[in-house]
Amino acid sequence: MTSLLILNGPNLNLLGMRQPEIYGSEMLADVSASCIAHGASNGYAVTCFQSNHEGDLVDTIHDAKGTHDGIILNAGAYTHTSIALADAIVGTEIPTIELHISNVYAREAFRHKSYIAPVAVGVICGFGTAGYVLALNAMIGHLGAAS
Ligand code: DQA
Repeated sequence: MTSLLILNGPNLNLLGMRQPEIYGSEMLADVSASCIAHGASNGYAVTCFQSNHEGDLVDTIHDAKGTHDGIILNAGAYTHTSIALADAIVGTEIPTIELHISNVYAREAFRHKSYIAPVAVGVICGFGTAGYVLALNAMIGHLGAAS
């Protein structure tokens, strides 16, 4: 079965509690459950992982090689700073979609820079937590087109 990894970076464990006017009121556990159910009903295995630590995220991308066929990555603030995460995506060659809950381009200028976007298949942002299922559908379409 095709396997997809949803990888969430720093502070996304606070989803539902953190700035709900920006990130909404849904908890990460509920978002993850919806993604797993959506994957299952389309014949895909979905695994979800969150870490606040850059190295853990790098390790998780490395470990995804040979295990997962695609990654949906909301790297949080590391999107705007982490060459290491971009290098991990390039190094493993796992198709990756960059995801943001908020429209980062309608926010502070420091959120307009992404180290992930140039190495990603594409970017989804600004659709709230619904973006996770949008990204799953986009990855399913991408992998289907590639095979
Ligand atoms: C975010 C946007 C980032 O700029 C921010 O640092 C986050 C969340 C989003 O999902 O909208 O932590 O990735």
